Amino acid sequence: MSTPASKLPVFPVSIRSQRITLSPTAAVVMAADQLRAQGIEVIDLGVGEPDFPTPEHIKDAAKEALDRNLTKYTSTSGIMPLRKAICDSINQQFGSDYAVENCCVVVGGKQGIFNAIMGLINPGDEVLLEKACWVSFPGIVKFAEGEIVWLDTESTDFHLTAELVQAAITPKSKLLIINSPSNPTGRVIAPEEFRNIVQVATDRGLWVISDECYLQFVYPPHQPFSAAALPADLRSRVLIVGSLSKTYAMTGWRVGYTLGPKEWVSEVLKVQSQSATHTASIAQHAAVVALTSSQKAVQTMLAEYQRRADWFIPALNAIPGITCSQPEGAFYAFPNIKALMQHCGFASSKEVEQELLYKYGVVVTDGAAFGAEGYLRLSFANSLSALQAAIERIQQMVADRS
Ligand SMILES: Cc1ncc(COP(=O)(O)O)c(C=O)c1O
Repeated sequence: MSTPASKLPVFPVSIRSQRITLSPTAAVVMAADQLRAQGIEVIDLGVGEPDFPTPEHIKDAAKEALDRNLTKYTSTSGIMPLRKAICDSINQQFGSDYAVENCCVVVGGKQGIFNAIMGLINPGDEVLLEKACWVSFPGIVKFAEGEIVWLDTESTDFHLTAELVQAAITPKSKLLIINSPSNPTGRVIAPEEFRNIVQVATDRGLWVISDECYLQFVYPPHQPFSAAALPADLRSRVLIVGSLSKTYAMTGWRVGYTLGPKEWVSEVLKVQSQSATHTASIAQHAAVVALTSSQKAVQTMLAEYQRRADWFIPALNAIPGITCSQPEGAFYAFPNIKALMQHCGFASSKEVEQELLYKYGVVVTDGAAFGAEGYLRLSFANSLSALQAAIERIQQMVADRS
């Protein structure tokens, strides 16, 4: 006999957990999976990951680690060769002097950001976030019971400026999170502005997380720029969060890192030691090879993303009601679709996302999920033929509703 519904216990969700929702990008992925399970063919421009396989030499390193039985717990902060490889690669590229004590390997960049926020933010502390920004920044801040102060960058075409940061700082401000290249906007903060932003924030006593997960995917004439290139006094309040996920097409391996002041890195480590412990030993050994061997595969992927963007962005702009800037980095198009919504009778960008998903089989992410209603995020880390098919389906949707 089954228990009547009225007798089933109600799960007492914690207040902290009630403050967050399932990541909106994860929700779209799940909806697409359900359609696939019903045999419906979908074009997935929703997921934020390279469509390339992990390069062979990195996979070989993981196989070798398995064969050598490197399958036990590692140090919580990561194996020493990996911490050293991370410091070396950033120091060589940006002239910094990070030592292994400044480095903690984390379970992907997301875990690094989570740990860093948990180690810094008290209930009521203000955290300055760009609007639009990656969905997990506000989610994690809310989980830590911080208060979000939005830096609205829509009027500057999603360029973050030191003036915007300056104007938003209050005595309660504790943390600024920057993300260049940005997911979802594709914006890259120019070196001078980057420096001014960090200067303004740290002069007023804030701490800064610089999320550099897309650091190596920057399109000319822009150049990769890391907080590591800032003078040491400015860097003393900055935690860099990096990741191998996008750079080496290793999203599933879960390898990221934090680099910064020892005191902050120790807190990252402490949170990790009481939660995930460390990233998988095999993945760590493969990550050493990724960082210390030829970077040719990264350059090949970058060139391919550039080629796709060069076709995709003009194709989006050719659709009536869509205006899309050329991305400066990362692999997302972030078009303004407000005119399309008006023309086609959509009340929200969520409605457009749902229509494209359920009627035309195209997975995109609603801009409102990133704080920008009236926009969509479309990943071009996808084959040119998939991008072409997606454009045809979007054109079809517009034609059907005209
Ligand atoms: C801006 C940004 N930061 C961090 C991450 C986290 O990536 P991972 O945890 O795979 O390193 C992502 C992933 O989409 C991202 O877009």
